[in-house]
Amino acid sequence: MSELHPENHLPPLFEAIEVTVRFGGLTAVDGVDAAFRSGELVGIIGPNGAGKTTFFNAISGVTRATSGKLLADGQDLSGKSPHRYAAHGIARTFQTPRVFGDMLVRENIEFGLKFAGRRPKQWVFWGEEKQVPWALRTPDSILALIGLQAQADLPAAAITPSQQRLLEIGMALATRPRMLLLDEVAAGLTEAEIENMAQLIRRMRDELDLTVVWIEHAVTTLLRHVERVIVLHQGRKIADGPPAEVVRNPEVIEAYLGDEMDEAHA
Ligand SMILES: Nc1ncnc2c1ncn2[C@@H]1O[C@H](COP(=O)(O)OP(=O)(O)OP(=O)(O)O)[C@@H](O)[C@H]1O
Ligand SMILES: [Mg+2]
Repeated sequence: MSELHPENHLPPLFEAIEVTVRFGGLTAVDGVDAAFRSGELVGIIGPNGAGKTTFFNAISGVTRATSGKLLADGQDLSGKSPHRYAAHGIARTFQTPRVFGDMLVRENIEFGLKFAGRRPKQWVFWGEEKQVPWALRTPDSILALIGLQAQADLPAAAITPSQQRLLEIGMALATRPRMLLLDEVAAGLTEAEIENMAQLIRRMRDELDLTVVWIEHAVTTLLRHVERVIVLHQGRKIADGPPAEVVRNPEVIEAYLGDEMDEAHA
């Protein structure tokens, strides 16, 4: 059925083909294929050390893949520097938030907007400024979206770790991306904060027309919100499909979900 959907005839926004990342003798990512289409919300799950972050590092140019291909809009970016990936509209957060602690919260956002302003013309995705979604136009509108208006004039080092995670998302949004990679943005948050984070992620995808790829250990929350989930185990992709299908996959239950689901129910 879904093959008949017209959008599926477009080339994916981003495609990883047989991507492998080795660190010496260790294969952290092992021949992973994955395609991300415009407007998709995709989750990535898997046990500790499964290669999730390394996969993100590869698809954002932070770590060079040992082999395989990385295509943005069909253009081969393999071996290119992170700024080329950013120029194609790929933005990410880091598992350990990276904000400029000495700078004000607002200045952290302004830094990202400066980057968006310097993007070469062929990579300005929204066309004219007036077509940019209102939520991404100014530091204030971005602060409103992530809910940090009250903290705008504090140094980033002075806000809580959960707020720093929101700020990092804001910095990534300020680059006006098309694909946003979120690495465990709900880690260390309370149950209520996790649910708010999930709502924010949904809103970003719905209102900003973003492709969002979301790594999270809070599996039950993640599965409730994504349309598709990729499961990594020991560097390999062992499943890729709708959550309802993936949770019934025996290999996934064996490798990961059995334990996680037990913990979620405990
Ligand atoms: N820079 C590096 N040098 C050497 N080994 C690395 C490096 N980065 C990651 N690894 C190893 O690669 C494997 C995959 O790590 P990765 O951080 O991608 O896993 P992960 O799925 O993100 O795990 P977690 O859920 O704990 O964040 C691990 O065995 C890790 O120790
Ligand atoms: Mg990780």
